[in-house]
Amino acid sequence: MKIAFYNYPVEVLKVDSIYSFAIYIYQPNRSSRVVYQYPNISISKEALLELEEYQKKGAKLQVFIEDMDSFYKETDCDQQRLDEYNLARVKMMNLFNKRKDRFNAKKDESFNLKENFKNAALNRDYSFLRQRLSYELLDFPIDQDPSINFMLALTDKVLMRDLGPVKCAVLAYFMAQELGIKDHQSLSDIILGALFKDMSFCMIKPSSFDSWSSLGVDPTYKKHPFLSLYYLSKLEIPFSKDLKRFIMEHHEDSKGNGFPRGKTEDYIALGSFILNLSEQLVYISEGKMGQEIGMESILKNIVNQNRLGEINPNLANPLIKTVEGWINF
Ligand SMILES: [Fe+2]
Repeated sequence: MKIAFYNYPVEVLKVDSIYSFAIYIYQPNRSSRVVYQYPNISISKEALLELEEYQKKGAKLQVFIEDMDSFYKETDCDQQRLDEYNLARVKMMNLFNKRKDRFNAKKDESFNLKENFKNAALNRDYSFLRQRLSYELLDFPIDQDPSINFMLALTDKVLMRDLGPVKCAVLAYFMAQELGIKDHQSLSDIILGALFKDMSFCMIKPSSFDSWSSLGVDPTYKKHPFLSLYYLSKLEIPFSKDLKRFIMEHHEDSKGNGFPRGKTEDYIALGSFILNLSEQLVYISEGKMGQEIGMESILKNIVNQNRLGEINPNLANPLIKTVEGWINF
């Protein structure tokens, strides 16, 4: 990330001066940039008045990064003044560079997903996977998308906590990576989906949590994907359609026996199946969903398409094939 165009105030320009850099005008509301005056042309009083008017209306005068040396030489504006004028963007760039440095410092450290998954499964210790995810998130962009920014701010606060949704997010993230999902937006949606899919559990009456059978028939539980989505919409962040879909579909199954819509495999997103499996792995292995079953056994039963306890093996084939590589500790 770098600032390609710096904003500056019109007062920096002097009438009748000839500048060797182009004067750009940027309209933030339209995200459009045009050259107002080409280099080596004397700037008139009328032009300065017009630029002042543009500035009053919210437009930004800009100079291209490669013209900075000429800009400093030919105006009385120095770097400190320019940085102050671009404070928010300079702060953002500094934060980005700090994150990049922290990322690069650990870049060569080896990481074996299967070994760490095994440790999480046998010892219920997700700390190394959580730390690894925190580290990988340092490489995510902080200036591209409000939902990615929200995810980064949220994970910054929650990834150090040993909570069910965090465990789901960690497993879902690494499963998605194993499946070849590498783009930041999709990975961010998977993480947010895992953190928020069961947010509406707070609306379910406490007695329904007495047993899995009482929870399974509670009508509010059957609606919890909708309700979690409703809560999410209250945040007024432009979340992607994929994220909303992952949450809505995280209890659908490939044979059409899931809820809330009973969709079948071809109509369910892979990300939704990833959330489904992460939930099964965490909740069943901790005894929160019927009989407690170890993670390796859950995966073996899914790969062999066996129903045992609350295990639902009706997942997408690419996901089943991928997690096959995680078993046989
Ligand atoms: Fe759920």
